[in-house]
Amino acid sequence: MNKRPEWLDNAVFYEIYPQTFRDTDGDGIGNINGITEKLPYIKELGCTAIWINPCFDSPFGDAGYDVRDYLKVAPRYGTNDDLVRLFEEAHKLDIHILLDLVPGHTSWEHPWFKESMKAERNEYTDRYIWTDSIWESPEGYGSLRGISERDGSCAVNFFTHQPALNYGFYKPDRPWQQAMDSEGALATREAMKNVMRFWLSKGCDGFRVDMAGTLVKNDDDGKGNVALWQDIRAFLDKEFPEAAMVSEWGEPRQSLAGGFHMDFLLHFGESHYNDLFRCEKPFFGGSGDASAFVAKYTDSYERSGRKGLICIPSGNHDMDRLAYHIHGDNRKLAFAFLLSMPGAPYIYYGDEIGMNYVEGLVSKEGGYGRTGSRTPMQWDGSANAGFSTAPAEKLYLPTDPDADRPTAEAQLNDENSLRSEVKKLIGIRKAHKALQSLGDIEFVCDGAPGKPLAYIRSSENERIFVAVNPTDIPAKLTVDAKPGEKVYSFGGEPEITPDSITVQGGSAVFVKLA
Ligand code: GLC
Repeated sequence: MNKRPEWLDNAVFYEIYPQTFRDTDGDGIGNINGITEKLPYIKELGCTAIWINPCFDSPFGDAGYDVRDYLKVAPRYGTNDDLVRLFEEAHKLDIHILLDLVPGHTSWEHPWFKESMKAERNEYTDRYIWTDSIWESPEGYGSLRGISERDGSCAVNFFTHQPALNYGFYKPDRPWQQAMDSEGALATREAMKNVMRFWLSKGCDGFRVDMAGTLVKNDDDGKGNVALWQDIRAFLDKEFPEAAMVSEWGEPRQSLAGGFHMDFLLHFGESHYNDLFRCEKPFFGGSGDASAFVAKYTDSYERSGRKGLICIPSGNHDMDRLAYHIHGDNRKLAFAFLLSMPGAPYIYYGDEIGMNYVEGLVSKEGGYGRTGSRTPMQWDGSANAGFSTAPAEKLYLPTDPDADRPTAEAQLNDENSLRSEVKKLIGIRKAHKALQSLGDIEFVCDGAPGKPLAYIRSSENERIFVAVNPTDIPAKLTVDAKPGEKVYSFGGEPEITPDSITVQGGSAVFVKLA
């Protein structure tokens, strides 16, 4: 039985890309002290937890998802002590911090990999997945070949410079494929436990785990990966029972069985997440179709035991900004949805003020098309939008050149701003258990073309009807109990009768049901 860190049940996360959040030493790149400085901003918005993208030593071929030393903060971000101070300052504000654990691969510059490339057998020979001949590539994976003394090809997970760590194969079918319980695979697992132990004992609250469902290979139905994570959870339960674990897996049925507390809804694969926010006709654009999303979500929800543990992000460092596809007040409707769904919501830095995807940037640190979503946070109207005092040409990435770019400061005292609306919605979520992570959800209307998305969220003593209607057509929805107090509305007053709620076009409404 999993122990649950209780704070997760009412958590609203803020995701920070450390490179571009806040630079306090004027070198043009964000740092840990910049995050510490901005904790009050995150607190004021109402977020209760932070996920920081990898901030460890790295050659930054994939923005830090290519770790060279798991136990050392990248010098460009500061020191391990700075990170510990961030944990401490965050805790004083009741904010929890998840680090990003990248257990599947390292950088090819990691000392483990350098040892692993040697011809002579050593402690790291089996740390990565190697074939036993340079002429055989690991089928189904990219590979690194011809750079080692050792005779073999090494599997890679993502970019060519990210060799895959060896956690074994669920069903080995080649001589070089090791079993999950082989000595080498178990040693990798223990090494990763040590990484977790290191940061948890320094005060971090848990991890967002990168590509969590892909560590054990040849594992089509996920059984091997579930078993691997159960073992890691057992270690955590023993040594760090409060450690929170959130997976980038996209299969809550499997990841929750593996002991993760929550799983992300992914923007790739079958989730239909993009139907809502990022496609030619996104639902929140006003003329799209959310019904395939609702069908898939409902299926995942049922199959994972009706637990509201699927986290829906506003965006992240891997996809276009929300504001790129969704405009004007529809952005508020998108947040009314995001902040009233089960699972912890994740707000990508800057999405709360409507920061845009910046087009035409040259790829930075393996960002490619993702680069435009990684530009500096827009704090205020000063130089570099208040991100850094460095000369503009020294910034990690340029700030959005749009003269009308939104800033956090300008939106602070504007009650009609996106920031104010997001803050209001977070406050409402926090005040109503039914709207939080574990509240139940029952869809009433599936957002088929011309229709709103509507659902009933419930906890032991409360039921709240939520309808979000980005179309311009009013919809009369029948309810199974008498509507009571209106908890929230935006964009037009609903018409309420004893057995129906009519939600106006371009509006959102939350109403208690008797
Ligand atoms: C995850 C990260 C992404 C990274 C990849 C490889 O999907 O979110 O940014 O490039 O894993 O580690």
